[in-house]
Amino acid sequence: MSTTREEAWRKLADHQDRTLADLFAEDPLRVEKLSARLELGTGGILFDFAKTHLTEDLLAGFETLAEACDLAEMRRRLFAGEVVNPTENRAAEHSALRGVGKETSVEEAAALRERMRLLVGAIHEGDLGEVKHLIHIGIGGSALGPALAVDALARDLALVDVHVVSNIDGVALEQAFAACDPATTLIAVASKTFTTIETMTNATSALRWLEENGVADPSGRVIALTAYPEKAVEWGVDETRILPFAESVGGRYSLWSSIGFPVAVAIGWEDFEAMLAGAAAVDEHFRDTDGRANLPLLAAFADLYYSRLRGCETRAVFAYDERLDLLPDYLQQLEMESNGKSVTVEGEPAGPTAPITWGGVGTDAQHAVFQLLHQGTHLVPIDFIASIAPGDDLDPAHHRILLMNCFAQGAALMAGKHSDDPARRYPGNRPSTTILVDDLDAATLGALIAFHEHRTFANAVMMGINPFDQFGVELGKDIARKIEQGGEGFDASTEALLEAAGLGG
Ligand code: F6P
Repeated sequence: MSTTREEAWRKLADHQDRTLADLFAEDPLRVEKLSARLELGTGGILFDFAKTHLTEDLLAGFETLAEACDLAEMRRRLFAGEVVNPTENRAAEHSALRGVGKETSVEEAAALRERMRLLVGAIHEGDLGEVKHLIHIGIGGSALGPALAVDALARDLALVDVHVVSNIDGVALEQAFAACDPATTLIAVASKTFTTIETMTNATSALRWLEENGVADPSGRVIALTAYPEKAVEWGVDETRILPFAESVGGRYSLWSSIGFPVAVAIGWEDFEAMLAGAAAVDEHFRDTDGRANLPLLAAFADLYYSRLRGCETRAVFAYDERLDLLPDYLQQLEMESNGKSVTVEGEPAGPTAPITWGGVGTDAQHAVFQLLHQGTHLVPIDFIASIAPGDDLDPAHHRILLMNCFAQGAALMAGKHSDDPARRYPGNRPSTTILVDDLDAATLGALIAFHEHRTFANAVMMGINPFDQFGVELGKDIARKIEQGGEGFDASTEALLEAAGLGG
């Protein structure tokens, strides 16, 4: 008889906690067993889970859990373009954008991508006049991916200078205006729904800025990136300037669609396609590999061990790479908006779900937050991410010191150090995973992001929750709308704040 999810969890809860030192001492092959390379054609990524507390028993237990949760069937549905988001009755077809998925969806995505390629080509060829700057306006999933990819891949060699503006706070948009010449600026309005108040307000102000600065045809300088092209037409965008994408692509999974337009504009079409190819290699690996050899699944086993069996409420990501300083922000939305849920797909209480994702860049973080990680009272599983090849052309000492520090932190957290002085004692036995790319380029960035998408999905399936809806963001939006419409009857504290800010009814 097959094991149920509850039984699998109960069995896992019976595990014996072991120290990392014991695990290493007992098994000389631990590193070999718990690390693997993912080949991407050109280069690859090494994943090292040896410094986590995963044991043979735990791995077997999580494999049973994955089976009990029908992970293989859920994964088949994901790639087949079937409904995996039951509350909205939708598929989640981000992998089709990378060429892996239902055939018709892959074809439709390719046709839309071709349309985007032509527009990007036209911009680079100068067919839209001189374009030096692109202000990309979007928020959440319509901004975080483009901001990360442009920052990671086009820091010093952007073909066009891209500014991503998300916040409704006018300070953000003004800062972009100050850096751009209106005569040579395009505006991309990125919104899946084309209704988000922050984005539409910023877009209106950007249009006004072009107008006020004597740009002849301001609307002609606007490009819309959306799943609802009719809304963009209504708003006044010329049809030839609209790059649509499928409704089955979720906002936080949309970097690969036309939402990635500023990335293609900044890094060029070839590299944009390399980013998709890197992600596609991970799609195929996730789709075709079973058990612990499946790297996103193995990462999810470690995630669930710490969040559910060890009670860790946070997980931290430190990129030892300046170019990935926006990665923690990106992963926060991916993981927390996807898996920050309280109920299962069946509507039952879900138990602990997504931990809080946080992080920063090394080595900066070492001098700020690592004190707590080494000696604090919270157990925080950490991911270290680094590139073997440097991103700079300075003295190789820079990169050598960067990598040595990354590896030293993982070693120190695990080993700890005894001292007779309690204040100088390091408890050790603190876990980390290291993800080492050969070289941070478009393909490895695409692969890294897709790895996290599938890891998030695998976590959700084993927790029994739906990672593809986000109703939790709606209530605050509703109340903001009511306030804007002059509504009354809020709680006394909110009424007093509105009064103090001169926003009272
Ligand atoms: O408020 C949350 C959210 O819906 C995210 O899921 C989404 O990425 C973001 O807002 C922006 O939405 P849109 O792309 O429709 O403007």
